[in-house]
Order: sequence, then structure tokens, then C-alpha cells
Amino acid sequence: MGNAPNRLQLIFLGPPGAGKGTQAKIFLDRSGIVQISTGDILRAAVSKGTDLGKEAKSYMDKGELVPDSVVIGIIEQRIQEPDCAKGFVLDGFPRTLEQARALDSILAKLKIELSHVINFAVPDEELVKRLLGRAEQEGRSDDNPESIKNRLQVFKEKTQPLIQYYTDKKILRDINGLGTTAEIAAAVQNVVGV
Ligand code: AP5
Repeated sequence: MGNAPNRLQLIFLGPPGAGKGTQAKIFLDRSGIVQISTGDILRAAVSKGTDLGKEAKSYMDKGELVPDSVVIGIIEQRIQEPDCAKGFVLDGFPRTLEQARALDSILAKLKIELSHVINFAVPDEELVKRLLGRAEQEGRSDDNPESIKNRLQVFKEKTQPLIQYYTDKKILRDINGLGTTAEIAAAVQNVVGV
């Protein structure tokens, strides 16, 4: 099994506020490779008031994870859409070992492989500062002190084990998430080669 030339499958991993979405958008502009953000997909469903949105909202507002089966289903469908032919950046997925194992099975069926997992490291104090700053500007409903505290805790319990999971697979690349967005984008480019 191997990737077709020029295909890239990336995961942007990191705690809430680490800059995954910001960097995924910069990468999309540079490479044309699509960004798939489970958070954005779920927020769109919430604002449309779909059944998915109604189910997701209660988890998201509290900073809890939406059930694995729901997000795995979303990703399985999304990555087979035509705009993913050159690959994709997964932003905010996987977030649990169950999601990571499900992704492995989906990719194996599609005969494609992960290229890199980029792990953005940022200290908690900076994460809180960024998320509270965004709350003032954009009013995202989960950017409040209580939900932020829970999101950080959920990250440590459920998502941090993925660092070891992908280290064992030898595809994890650590990036310092402190600095200007341009500096961090350059570090991503250095790792990915695009
Ligand atoms: P999601 O939307 O994925 O939120 P998150 O992980 O909490 O991530 P954020 O968007 O807050 O942070 P980010 O790392 O993308 O940083 P960003 O670039 O935005 O998920 C929301 C919820 O949906 C979850 O809590 C859960 O309920 C549910 N969900 C989503 N995926 C799920 C899954 N797989 N399984 C189950 N549930 C799921 O930047 C943050 C701020 O910092 C911005 O204001 C930005 O301008 C600023 N910033 C960025 N870079 C820098 C920099 N270098 N210096 C200074 N400021 C910066």
C-alpha cells in the first residue's frame, strides 16, 4: 500500500487554541489541499438546526466530545468526496484512540496512508489567552472560561494519548505553536515539504 504521487493526508493535532484551524487554512491556500474540520462541520449543522446539530450542540457547549460514532461517520463520508482526490488536512479529528483506529481502517480500505501528523505544542496559559480573546471577537459559544477549562481537560484525557499512538507509527512531527502564524506556517512547510 502507498500513496499516489502528490497525495497528502495530514492530521493537525493539538489542544484547543493551538492554531490547528488557522494553520490548516494557510496550508489550504498554499497547497489547494482541502481542510476538513470536524468542529466547522458540527458548527454548521448546529446553525442549520439539523438533527446532527441538535445532538452535537449540548456536547459542544460544555466542551465535551461528540460521540465517536457520529464524527467517525462524518469523516468516512467526507474524505471520499471528489475534492479530496489530492488528499486532505484533518483539523480536529481524530481526538480519541477509537477515532484514530477507525481512521486507520477507513484509510486502509481506501488504500491510502497518513503522510504526517503535525502536533502543535502550546502552553495552557497561552491557549486560554487566545480562546478568551476569540470569545471577545467572535463570540463562539464554547469560548467561555468554564468550557475552555473542560476542553483542556478533555484534551489531556482523551486526545493526548494520540501523541504516543502516532509516535509509535513514526509519523508524528512536533511543531512549536508559539510564534507568529507565518513562522509556524513556515515550520509546517518545512516538515511537509509543501
Ligand atoms: P473544534 O472546532 O475542533 O475546536 P478546538 O479543538 O477546541 O479547536 P479551536 O478551534 O478552538 O482551536 P484551533 O487549534 O483550531 O485554533 P485556531 O486556529 O482556531 O471543536 C469544537 C467542539 O466540537 C469540540 O469541543 C467537540 O465538542 C466537537 N468536536 C470537534 N471535533 C470532534 C471530534 N473529532 N470528536 C468529538 N467531538 C468533536 O486559533 C484559536 C485562536 O488563536 C484564534 O483566535 C486565532 O486567531 C488565534 N491564533 C492562532 N494562531 C495564533 C498564533 N500563532 N499566535 C496568536 N494567536 C493565534
